[in-house]
Amino acid sequence: MGYNIAIDGPAGAGKSTIAKLVAKELGYIYVDTGAMYRGMAIYFLKNNIAPEDTEKIAAASKEADVSIGYEDGVQQIYLNGENVTPLLREEKVGNMASRCSSVPEVRARLLSLQRNLAEEKDVVMDGRDIGTNILPNADTKIYLTASVDTRAKRRFDELQEKGESCVMEEIAKDIEERDYRDMHRKTAPLRQAEDAVYIDSSDMTIEEVVQAILKRCKR
Ligand code: DC
Repeated sequence: MGYNIAIDGPAGAGKSTIAKLVAKELGYIYVDTGAMYRGMAIYFLKNNIAPEDTEKIAAASKEADVSIGYEDGVQQIYLNGENVTPLLREEKVGNMASRCSSVPEVRARLLSLQRNLAEEKDVVMDGRDIGTNILPNADTKIYLTASVDTRAKRRFDELQEKGESCVMEEIAKDIEERDYRDMHRKTAPLRQAEDAVYIDSSDMTIEEVVQAILKRCKR
């Protein structure tokens, strides 16, 4: 059994940035489970399946084989053998991922992939249900969050940097809707595990958050 660090929290809380740095510091593997849901989402989008057609999503999930690999230490997502990593961060992919992740069949497809990785290796795994459902015995559990305004501002800056036009109010609305969906679905909703450490990063630097997490890794 590897040493397992679970980091859960809402969209835009900085989980992937922080998890990557913690993994680098410890020499662990970083596992981005949101990217796996995004990989699944690409399959449904490619097949023109509507997000509300949960029956079709459940059936089609059986045809979507998501796997992960690493190139120069960077996680890659393969969908039925094709590397779809460059498409993962598109807005429509994130929205479809949030919707299709409420379908139990989709979650079931990814559960063993995630558990097996943590079984074999020392990992920092981020997502929504890692501490509560995927790795209930994780050695360190973190619930990382930030205010909606802070998360919207971070996303706004990120999109501006990429030269994409965006409106702050729309980003904030999108974040609130995604939070609601992720926290209110029936299967494995986003919530803080009882034994998770709560960190609000709204007024913290990246380095402060990384250090706060490293302090809690009692290896
Ligand atoms: O972290 P992210 O934005 O890449 O995740 C995309 C969506 O995937 C998110 O809105 C909810 C879903 N997800 C999930 O349900 N469980 C996880 N462990 C990770 C992501």
